[in-house]
Amino acid sequence: MSVTVESTLSLPVIPRSAAAGVEVQVATSQHFDLAVRISSLIEKAAAARGTGIARRDPAYIRGKMAEGKAVVALGPKGQVAGFCYIETWNHGRYAANSGLIVAPAFRRMGLARRIKRCAFELSRARYPKAKLFGITTSLAVMKINSELGYRPVTFSELTDDDVFWNGCQSCPNFDVLTRMKRKMCLCTGMLFDPDAE
Ligand SMILES: CC(C)(COP(=O)(O)OP(=O)(O)OC[C@H]1O[C@@H](n2cnc3c(N)ncnc32)[C@H](O)[C@@H]1OP(=O)(O)O)[C@@H](O)C(=O)NCCC(=O)NCCS
Repeated sequence: MSVTVESTLSLPVIPRSAAAGVEVQVATSQHFDLAVRISSLIEKAAAARGTGIARRDPAYIRGKMAEGKAVVALGPKGQVAGFCYIETWNHGRYAANSGLIVAPAFRRMGLARRIKRCAFELSRARYPKAKLFGITTSLAVMKINSELGYRPVTFSELTDDDVFWNGCQSCPNFDVLTRMKRKMCLCTGMLFDPDAE
């Protein structure tokens, strides 16, 4: 019996064409039952990467869905393929698309790009005057943000809201951020400034 390479992998193998069967949409209360799975995906990715991903509990995720500030990607069987949500700061002068996660079986199919584009358009529609920003160590996110018009900036250009930066506490590099007095860290700051467009 011949053994294929795929059959030895622990991850479920989904053909690239399966990405076409994934639906990306603004989440609503209809998606509440997916919050536990999304929270678990984020937690596992944080443990695997060890940096740059804040944990989010299911209640928080449901809150974002209820407010129409979350994007969910559903696989062909209705399973969670990906997720992202919007957060605002400084009374809506800044907005961030946070918590981006793509389930391992759906990675490298262009899904993060689709989710980020949807979250970007939602953010622009809801907060047209807001500066959109993110901090990331992920090359994939840097690529996608650049395509959307974000530019790398120093942390001085981002929100000064303590609540945002306190979200970094679950990152193992938080001591670096604190030592650098929030001026820099291992993440790259990226900003989309609507006034510069
Ligand atoms: C990072 C993550 C969201 C990427 O999702 P994805 O659906 O696989 O990404 P896409 O298929 O849309 O890829 C977009 C681009 O990034 C590249 N890319 C994707 N994963 C990458 C990786 N691990 N390393 C380097 N490049 C990567 C792709 O090749 C593609 O670039 P290209 O068009 O030039 O080929 C996903 O791996 C994930 O959920 N990781 C764990 C959580 C995480 O890191 N979140 C980001 C926190 S800031």
